[in-house]
Amino acid sequence: MTKRRIYLDNHATTPVDPRVLEAMLPYFNERFGNPASKSHPFGWEAQNAVDQALGQVAALIGASENEIVFTSGATESINLALKGAAAAYRGKGRHIVTTTIEHRAVLDPCQLLADNGFEITRLDVDRDGILALDDLAAALREDTILVSIIHANNEIGVIQDIEAIGALCRGKGVLLHVDAAQSVGKIPVDVDGMQIDLLSISAHKYYGPKGIGALYVRRRSPRVQLQPQMHGGGHQKGLRAGTLPVPLIVGLGVASSIAWNEMAEEGRRIAQLRDHLIEELTGRLDGVTQNGHPSQRLPGNANLSFTGVDGARLLSALSNLAVSSGSACASEEAGPSHVLRAIGLPGSLAAASLRFGLGRFTTAQEIDCAINEVYQAVNRMRDQRKAP
Ligand SMILES: Cc1ncc(COP(=O)(O)O)c(C=O)c1O
Repeated sequence: MTKRRIYLDNHATTPVDPRVLEAMLPYFNERFGNPASKSHPFGWEAQNAVDQALGQVAALIGASENEIVFTSGATESINLALKGAAAAYRGKGRHIVTTTIEHRAVLDPCQLLADNGFEITRLDVDRDGILALDDLAAALREDTILVSIIHANNEIGVIQDIEAIGALCRGKGVLLHVDAAQSVGKIPVDVDGMQIDLLSISAHKYYGPKGIGALYVRRRSPRVQLQPQMHGGGHQKGLRAGTLPVPLIVGLGVASSIAWNEMAEEGRRIAQLRDHLIEELTGRLDGVTQNGHPSQRLPGNANLSFTGVDGARLLSALSNLAVSSGSACASEEAGPSHVLRAIGLPGSLAAASLRFGLGRFTTAQEIDCAINEVYQAVNRMRDQRKAP
């Protein structure tokens, strides 16, 4: 097996921060209680830990503690938001608006809803990956019950203007769900300032454990109704039944509070490394183009196309780097990335793209190694093509 020592795939997942792991460990054995046990200290101790995490998650997004529902991750949060709102508001209307650059965690539930009598409008974005507000305004109708927009895109890192989108939706009385799996913990998110009604979060994207996430559900002005998708012991006010995974919840909480404290400085450091990577690769190699808006993007994201090079082959030539490509065999999609196609990239360039995802533990030395490795591999592949 090839060694991929330099991890530049932080959009796929991030390692658990050691501080997060340390906080979680006692809740696996010493403090193993079930927060639903109301009659003894084991349960009380677990409930205290859950309450603390609720506060930490709520603080990160400007919510109240009673607006947070724990889930298994962003996929489940999104399913609860979309299917739950569709079922609760179907009497009001059956029209939902989203975009063509959503993650499959949104696209697939939307397709299921479409198969069950809902009408889905999927809005195009421009060549930078930005959704035009006018297009959204024109798509909203009397029977529109929900708009679902990805905040920061997982492939091209492009950040949508959620504040403006929120104002538009609120003005029309339409609920707004935001898939914030890639943005929470990396860039500021404020559910009140951005007028968000539902927001999906995933811990493993910001140095917390896998298997835990949260859904923010607005409780006032307006009070959002959701039909639960998981039924059982009435946990979490009946919105999502199931015994709370306390160690994971503690991890989500601590990851949130670290992000809250360190986001600004970390974002600056990561963006500098990312900009250095882009400058070096576009400066030293011909035919390298950046995909997605040049500045309205996540600090840790670079998505580059290398003209005349096959992304999947480039990926396998980069034996020391863990990155991902927009081509078929590198992802779970059946063809070139739907996001790269949506921003108008021809198939050849979409297939010639690499996604670099920098994170908290990426060092300047690793970026220099990555630059050299990509530079050499691209040159080698281009030379091979030229050879008779
Ligand atoms: C934008 C976006 N939405 C949703 C998800 C799904 O998140 P999770 O892995 O927590 O289910 C991901 C993860 O890849 C993502 O990047």
